[in-house]
Amino acid sequence: MQQIRTGIVCLSLVSAATAITGSSVFSESLISQQVFDGENFLKYDGVRGPYVDRVSYGISRDPPAQCTVGQVIMVKRHGERYPASDEGPSIEQALNKVNSTLARSGNYTGDLAFLKNWTYFVPSDCYEAETYTGPYAGLTDAYNHGKDYRSRYGHLWDGKSILPMFTADFQRVIETAQEFGEGFFGNDTYSIKAALNIISESDSQGADSLTPTCHRQDDNAQNICNDLPYHLPQLDVAADRLNSQYHGLNLNWTNVYNLMLMSAYELNTRPTSDWINVFTIDEWVSFAHIWNTNFYYCSGPGNEYMRAVGSLYVNATLSLLREGPSSNSLFFNFAHDSNITPIITALGIATPSENLTVDQVAFGTRWNIHDIVPMGGRLTIERLNCADSALAPAGPFVRLVLNEAVVPLQGCHNGPGYSCPLDNYTSFVQGLPNFVTECEVPSSDPQYLNFWWNYTTSTESNFVKGTRCNGLA
Ligand SMILES: *[C@@H]1O[C@H](CO)[C@@H](O)[C@H](O)[C@H]1NC(C)=O
Ligand SMILES: *[C@@H]1O[C@H](CO)[C@@H](O)[C@H](O)[C@H]1NC(C)=O
Ligand SMILES: *[C@@H]1O[C@H](CO)[C@@H](O)[C@H](O)[C@H]1NC(C)=O
Ligand SMILES: *[C@@H]1O[C@H](CO)[C@@H](O)[C@H](O)[C@H]1NC(C)=O
Ligand SMILES: *[C@@H]1O[C@H](CO)[C@@H](O)[C@H](O)[C@H]1NC(C)=O
Ligand SMILES: *[C@@H]1O[C@H](CO)[C@@H](O)[C@H](O)[C@H]1NC(C)=O
Ligand SMILES: *[C@@H]1O[C@H](CO)[C@@H](O)[C@H](O)[C@H]1NC(C)=O
Ligand SMILES: *[C@@H]1O[C@H](CO)[C@@H](O)[C@H](O)[C@H]1NC(C)=O
Ligand SMILES: *[C@@H]1O[C@H](CO)[C@@H](O)[C@H](O)[C@H]1NC(C)=O
Repeated sequence: MQQIRTGIVCLSLVSAATAITGSSVFSESLISQQVFDGENFLKYDGVRGPYVDRVSYGISRDPPAQCTVGQVIMVKRHGERYPASDEGPSIEQALNKVNSTLARSGNYTGDLAFLKNWTYFVPSDCYEAETYTGPYAGLTDAYNHGKDYRSRYGHLWDGKSILPMFTADFQRVIETAQEFGEGFFGNDTYSIKAALNIISESDSQGADSLTPTCHRQDDNAQNICNDLPYHLPQLDVAADRLNSQYHGLNLNWTNVYNLMLMSAYELNTRPTSDWINVFTIDEWVSFAHIWNTNFYYCSGPGNEYMRAVGSLYVNATLSLLREGPSSNSLFFNFAHDSNITPIITALGIATPSENLTVDQVAFGTRWNIHDIVPMGGRLTIERLNCADSALAPAGPFVRLVLNEAVVPLQGCHNGPGYSCPLDNYTSFVQGLPNFVTECEVPSSDPQYLNFWWNYTTSTESNFVKGTRCNGLA
C-alpha cells in the first residue's frame, strides 16, 4: 500500500521557516532528480492541518535587484486550530464506532493497532480554539510568522510610531494577531508600539469590514456548498479495507471522511498522527478534492458573488497602494479562510478554466485550496519602487505574494520580478464588480472600507484574551 511520507512534513516545516532567505539563482549543489511535492501530506489535508508554503513559479521571493519594497498589506488566516464545533459530533461518532469494535474484541492488531495506546486530542472545550501544543501549534506559527516578517519588512516601521494592526473580532483570529504582533515587535515592544484594532464581524459593518457578507446568494453554488462531504468512491475503498479487518466494524464513507478530517487536525496539536497512514495517498487525493470543491462553491470562483465580495478588499488596498508609503506602510490584517478566498477570486490568480466537478477529482486545477488558504495562510501585497531597467521605466509596481510564493497577476506581469505596474494594476482593479451594489449592502450600513484610515492608536486591546482551552499534549 502506498502511503504518504510523513517524514516530508518535517522538511516542509523547515522550508516554511526559512522561506525568507529564498535566493534568486539556482543552487550550485548537486541538483536533485526527485520531486517530493506530490508526497507532502500537507498538500492533501483539506487545509485542516498545518500551514504549508505555496509551490512557487520559480520567481524569487525577494524583491528584484532594481527594486525596494516600500509598502506591504497582508491578510492572514488564523493559525492552526482544533476542529470546528459542528465537526465534533461526527468525528466522535466515527471514532466511537472504531474504538468500541476494537475494545469489544480486544484485538489490537492490523491497521489500527496503535489505538491500544492512543487518546483523542480534543477536549470538549477546545473545539474552534487555536492550538498551542506541538510543533505546528497555531500560536507558535503566528509568532514565528511575525518574527519572519520583522526581518523581511522591519525597515518599513520607523521604530517609534505606533503601528495599528487589524483583526476580525473572533477569538482565534484575535489571538493570531496578538502572537504575530509579539513576534514582529518583540514581546515588550508589542505592548507599547502595536495598537490592535478589533473590527466587528457583524453584518451591520457593511463595507467597513474584514469579513464582508453578501446579501445576495448564488443558490446553485450554495446547495453544493451545503452538501459537504461529497461522496467519492476512494472513501468506500478505505471503509472496505478497515471493515474487512475488524469483525463487526461497519464504517461507511462518511465515517471514513470524518476519521480523515480528524487525522489532519491531530497534527495541529501533536508532532505526528498515526491515523495519516491508515489511509492511502489515493484516498487523501480524494479528501483534498472534497475541500477544493467546497471552497470553490462556498467562497470561491464557483459562486457568482465572490468576485464582488473580494473586490471590497482589493479596491480598498488599491487606495492604500496609490497613496503609497507614509509614516505607516505596514498593514497587517487577520481574518478567516472564507474571507481570503473571495479576494483570491477577485484577483483571478487561481480561477480555473472549468468548474470543479463534485464527484470526480479535478486533476491539475488551478483551484488548489492548499496553495491558497492553509491554516495561517497569507496574501501579502507588496508595493515596489523600481529603478529604470530593460523591463520597464522607473516607478511603482505591485506584487502579490501568496503563502510566500510570488503569483503574477494574469495579463500583467511585465514589471521587474514579474510585477505589475501600479497604473496597470489600477485599471485591473477598477474593472472589478462593486461590492456595495452587487451585494446590496443596505444604505444604512457603511459603504466604504474605512478602518485603515480611521483607527485607534490605543494599546488597550493588545492583550484581550479569552480563556484558553484545556488542551492535551
Ligand atoms: C485479529 O485481527 C486480525 C486482523 O486485524 C485478524 O487477522 C485476526 O484473526 C484477529 N484475531 C482474533 C483472535 O480475532
Ligand atoms: C503509550 O503512550 C505513552 C505516552 O505517549 C508512552 O509513554 C508509552 O510508552 C506508550 N506505551 C506503549 C505500550 O506504546
Ligand atoms: C476507547 O474505548 C476504551 C474502552 O471503552 C476507552 O478506555 C478509551 O478511552 C477509548 N479511546 C478513545 C480514543 O476513544
Ligand atoms: C514572547 O512571547 C511568546 C509568545 O507568547 C513566548 O512564547 C515567548 O516565550 C516570549 N518570550 C519572552 C522573552 O518573553
Ligand atoms: C454513516 O454512518 C453514520 C453513523 O455512524 C450515519 O450517521 C451516516 O448517515 C452514515 N452515512 C451514510 C452515507 O450512510
Ligand atoms: C460554472 O457554473 C456556473 C453555474 O453554476 C455557470 O454559470 C458557469 O458558466 C460555469 N462556468 C464554466 C467555466 O463552465
Ligand atoms: C499598461 O498600461 C499602459 C497605458 O496605461 C498600456 O499601454 C499597456 O498596454 C498596459 N500594459 C498591460 C500589461 O496591461
Ligand atoms: C473603490 O474605492 C473607491 C475609493 O474608496 C470608491 O470611490 C469606489 O467606488 C470603489 N470601487 C469599487 C468597485 O468598489
Ligand atoms: C472612526 O471610527 C470610530 C470608531 O470605530 C467611529 O465611531 C467613527 O464614526 C469613525 N469616524 C469616521 C469619520 O468614519
